[in-house]
Amino acid sequence: MSTHNLNQAPVLVMGAGIMGMGIAQVAAQAGHAVSVYDTRADAVPLAKQKLADSLAALVAKGKMTAEAVQALLARITPLSQLSDAGHVSLVVEAIVENLAVKRSLFQELEGVVSEQCVLATNTSSISVTAIANGLKHPQRLVGMHFFNPVPLMKLVEVVSGLQTDVNVAQAIFDLAGVWGKTAVYARSTPGFIVNRIARPFYAESLALLQEQAARPEQLDALLRGVGFRMGPCELMDLIGHDTNFSVTQSVFEANFFDRRFTPSLVQRELVDGGLFGRKTGRGFYSYPEGAPALPVTHVAALPANTQWVVHGSGAVADALASAVTQHAQGKAASRATSSAWVGIEVAGLQLHQTDGRSAWQVAQALGLKNVAVFDELPTVAGGALAFAAVGADDVSHTAAAVLQALGFAPVQVADAPGLVVARTLAMLVNEAADAVLQGVCTTDGANAAMKLGVNYPAGPFDWLARMGRTRVVSVLHALDACYRGERYRVSPWLQRGEAA
Ligand code: NAI
Repeated sequence: MSTHNLNQAPVLVMGAGIMGMGIAQVAAQAGHAVSVYDTRADAVPLAKQKLADSLAALVAKGKMTAEAVQALLARITPLSQLSDAGHVSLVVEAIVENLAVKRSLFQELEGVVSEQCVLATNTSSISVTAIANGLKHPQRLVGMHFFNPVPLMKLVEVVSGLQTDVNVAQAIFDLAGVWGKTAVYARSTPGFIVNRIARPFYAESLALLQEQAARPEQLDALLRGVGFRMGPCELMDLIGHDTNFSVTQSVFEANFFDRRFTPSLVQRELVDGGLFGRKTGRGFYSYPEGAPALPVTHVAALPANTQWVVHGSGAVADALASAVTQHAQGKAASRATSSAWVGIEVAGLQLHQTDGRSAWQVAQALGLKNVAVFDELPTVAGGALAFAAVGADDVSHTAAAVLQALGFAPVQVADAPGLVVARTLAMLVNEAADAVLQGVCTTDGANAAMKLGVNYPAGPFDWLARMGRTRVVSVLHALDACYRGERYRVSPWLQRGEAA
């Protein structure tokens, strides 16, 4: 048990912006008396009025009672001067993202609040250790990182700096639970958990766009095919390229310009052009129209007497075999379970599931003319599945016809290593593995953070289990061999086989 019990503690929220008011709302909803302070005159009354309007809409929809709303609002009061904050036991700071301003605010607060008062910062990118520097009691400062919109997003990263007392971190962890959130411990390192592990979700699509391997709407459809609610391009358009680029840039800089986190020229161009996405009417797509639908591929059906052979063993081979039975004229596939590769042989063509190598490399290695590689299988029925093919003129058509016959929506992309989805997932796993290696979070913490903080359909270590360590590492090695440089270096945690 923590020595600090913050249940029902009077709370001071610093900053009445989008995050501060959201935090004030969840604290008041949990029964706390909440004071809100902002340097902008009228900021708090205006923000409170806005909150009242949005809660009134919930009453109209029958989601809250008028009495509950009234009680909630009554618990939130503006604080006109900091010197009146002596009674609070918890401060949650959500002011401007600036180290010097945050530091001086906490130093000023230490002269007002009691020695037991816990100080929390909602910073999304500044080191908690650095904010605590100069405090009389730096051990009571902890990160309490909420996600936007605060009332809806379930995750809170509880971020410890070098001097944070474990009991203080635990008190915030427990309190977040009482406020209806799922808390995850993190060490104060650039991007904490979510903003760090999520970088490759954007970076891999941006890299593929840079080499013209696929179009934005194809990339989006492919990642939606494995359960992401939005693809990377539409999501960057929604977040805003200015914001997304600046997070990438700050993680890059904070890691001493480690090239693994190098921002993308493709995104820089959009930012320079003021094409921020939805909010400016244009990013990858034009708004309000948004992403164009993928054109339906018309491929001639395979002949009725086609012989299907499924190679390899394991979950993917089994899924392919059952797709043959289900979709391909009800004919069962022959199985070649001892094959060293996973995929399908049909109509004289081998289709290999990607192990990172391009179709061209597989063809060279096997001395074959016609070869296709395909991506991670979609988890959504009829989902998009990327493939690339080399060989005779009609090989792409045959590959598309095979994948279509199995119930997938084939999307032809350039013959890039690890295609689109396997490459992106392997890189998310790799980043999460490094975070675990460096003690930033646990594997469970990373899974929970990515599912709750950015709504991923599964956590990175769930994907690792699904894809298998061997395949993840082999995709990363293939990417590393192709591109060189630091981006695709394999986490020692994966190399050591800790995941096996
Ligand atoms: P915002 O700009 O909407 O609100 C900031 C508020 O703080 C403004 O009302 C401003 O007048 C006030 N303020 C500035 N300096 C102050 C001071 N010295 N004392 C008192 N009030 C002061 O900003 P937002 O988006 O709410 O962000 C606040 C913090 O939360 C930042 O540290 C940000 O990095 C972090 N954050 C933001 C997220 C987001 O999606 N917007 C997500 C997670 C964290």
